[in-house]
Amino acid sequence: MHADRSSQTAEGATFIRTLHQQLPAAERVLHDPWVVQLALFGQRWMARIPFLARQCLRKFPRMVDYVPVRDRFGDEVIDKAVGGGTRQVVILGAGLDTISYRTLSRHPDCVLYEVDHPATQAMKLRRAKRLAAKFGHAIRYVAADFEVDDFREKLITAGFQPNQPSVFIWMGVIYYLSEDAVKQTLSRARDLMTVGSPLALDFWPPSLTEATGDPNFEARRKTYAKMGETLKFGIEPRDLADFVRPLGYGVNQVESINALCRKYVRREMQVAEGMSAAAIVAEPRG
Ligand SMILES: C[S@@+](CC[C@H](N)C(=O)[O-])C[C@H]1O[C@@H](n2cnc3c(N)ncnc32)[C@H](O)[C@@H]1O
Repeated sequence: MHADRSSQTAEGATFIRTLHQQLPAAERVLHDPWVVQLALFGQRWMARIPFLARQCLRKFPRMVDYVPVRDRFGDEVIDKAVGGGTRQVVILGAGLDTISYRTLSRHPDCVLYEVDHPATQAMKLRRAKRLAAKFGHAIRYVAADFEVDDFREKLITAGFQPNQPSVFIWMGVIYYLSEDAVKQTLSRARDLMTVGSPLALDFWPPSLTEATGDPNFEARRKTYAKMGETLKFGIEPRDLADFVRPLGYGVNQVESINALCRKYVRREMQVAEGMSAAAIVAEPRG
């Protein structure tokens, strides 16, 4: 990411969430009354005018489900952990996600920690003033660049207790990082987790993150690169267990985004096979 420029893909995810809220209730994967407060004026305007919203939904039918589907998966991982007694929730690469507000509305006794790139976090804090007034007492912010910063001490200083169970959510981020940063971040998170604590993440296969020569795909890669969020890291679902084992995790659940979409809304999203969400769990270290 550019050091001084907030995440453009976070703006994109917010537009998708805003549009998703325009779907009929029965077709929605999750209820998010807060997202509209984080959307840009133009995004809000487009989503609220029925004709424009319908055009966007028609033009980007897959995207409109992808983000809410992975959100719902993450929310379910949080609900299960909180049901088992966990009260600490860490959102890595929080962007403009409303996950903290969603979580606190279901579990008011949780403490949320949002870790994000400094430029994106500063932008969110400016934009989320009203939401911060409503939920701020229970949300703590830690600024860190996953490529260079160690967030462990900062999280502990913010009140995180490594000897207590926690749940980590890392959605929409790892494909923009180097493999080294993905490993370092997972390893640092593991240092803060008790055995059995879960971490949910989504990931894409290398065919979607590495150069393929396909002109359409290369054009899309260039768009991400221009935004400062170059696609870098991909992994196949079958390789996830071997990748995370040396970092101190076991794989609890891996789901394709297509399968999750069929499960949540009984419709096919038809994103590339291999786009997946997973819950990995901290294991005893040898
Ligand atoms: C597509 S957004 C996803 C945001 C959020 N998780 C969501 O689901 O809406 C990508 C996020 O990754 C963060 N990110 C990308 N590269 C990063 C880095 N090197 N260090 C910290 N955060 C990074 C951005 O700041 C942004 O919040």
